[in-house]
Amino acid sequence: MGTSVNGFSKLSKEAKAKWVAEHYASNPEETLQLMKSFQQPGSEVQKVLDGFSENTVSNFVMPFSLAPNFVINGKVYCVPMVIEESSVVAAASASAKYWMERGGFNCEVLGTRKVGQLHFSWPGDASALLAAFPEIRQKLLEETAHLTRNMEKRGGGILDMELLDMTSMEPEYYQIRVNFETCDTMGANFINSVLEEIGMLLNDIFAEADGLQHQPGSATVIMAILSNFTPECIVRASVECPVEKLWDKNLGMEADCFAEKFAKAIRIAEIDSYRATTHNKGIFNGVDAVILATANDFRAIEACGHAFAARDGQYRSLSHCEVRDGIFRFWLDIPLAVGTVGGLTHLHPMAKCALDILGNPGATELMQIIAAVGLAQNFAAVRSLTTTGIQKGHMKMHLTNILNHLQASEAQVIAALDYFEDKKVSFSTVRAFLGR
Ligand code: MEV
Repeated sequence: MGTSVNGFSKLSKEAKAKWVAEHYASNPEETLQLMKSFQQPGSEVQKVLDGFSENTVSNFVMPFSLAPNFVINGKVYCVPMVIEESSVVAAASASAKYWMERGGFNCEVLGTRKVGQLHFSWPGDASALLAAFPEIRQKLLEETAHLTRNMEKRGGGILDMELLDMTSMEPEYYQIRVNFETCDTMGANFINSVLEEIGMLLNDIFAEADGLQHQPGSATVIMAILSNFTPECIVRASVECPVEKLWDKNLGMEADCFAEKFAKAIRIAEIDSYRATTHNKGIFNGVDAVILATANDFRAIEACGHAFAARDGQYRSLSHCEVRDGIFRFWLDIPLAVGTVGGLTHLHPMAKCALDILGNPGATELMQIIAAVGLAQNFAAVRSLTTTGIQKGHMKMHLTNILNHLQASEAQVIAALDYFEDKKVSFSTVRAFLGR
């Protein structure tokens, strides 16, 4: 069993590292050395990184890659991606280039509305509360104006507010649901601050509201928090071209046959949840990589994306395909509550760099870029699956990893890539090829 500790957070960074190495690591010296090697002691960057979290003892490094040639609404982007899975960036880049030659990605933001909820219980009469709510809402808007003023100046703020009577599901349970526009910020801090203020004002405003003075008891705020389910903060990315233009030399079949097979694969992901989960995972391979590169909240994006995929009660594909009148059309609708201002977006030096590479987009432009990458990733995966199979590409990356691991020379790498074109890749076959 492990060792417990008191006052861990008060120890210095070095002492924390030493403690964990001594009590938990199989090789304390090596562990300490490793942790040290991934840090830049005393540097500004290190100070910034340590400020993001608690009990930090080192940095966890991930590859920062680029996927060039993304043509989105006529503009060319080189998209930074942070991901550890091989093939993802290669697939995104190949897909971007393929669609660049066929008109690029069309993206459109369908909405930017975010949601917050104040959950409370109240013992009084529901109809009296509902009747008083227009007056309550007005007061709440006035009393939270000091928090919303700045956001309003930027074109955002509270869009609307409604009272939901949830007592048929849970006794005395009500909800004030507030819709927000948070402009270029993801908006979590703004939304939560407004909601907590509403929670604090609730009983005073209830006490003064017409028709509520003689109601029994007071409201109890259960919690005030944004909802990460933002189905109305959503973007559509699409590609389309005449079916015959889908053809390229690596397809291995006629374009019309590919179009039909591809569309069938998408339909399968629309109707079968087991396939839909893997299918959407492929979309999130691209989405998460850009979310991470721009220091957005990947947990929020994932939670919302999957809830959206299951919005009619069954988990389904986020992307759709249609082949009609000789035109192939493939699109993705995905909710993306992202920010390009606030949070870590400009604090993390590499996120700042990623946003700079993207031309410092606003939140809606970033939504479009991310959706295009998600669609590109999905296209690449389903194209592989319905043509050569996924393992061919994976094995090539796997081969490169093994060659790197075995410290093959540049000439050996070239020879091996050629030799293993039509052969099974495994650690032992590669080692045998290198004569080790
Ligand atoms: C692997 O990371 C992602 C895929 O499984 C996605 C898919 O099956 O569509 C290839």
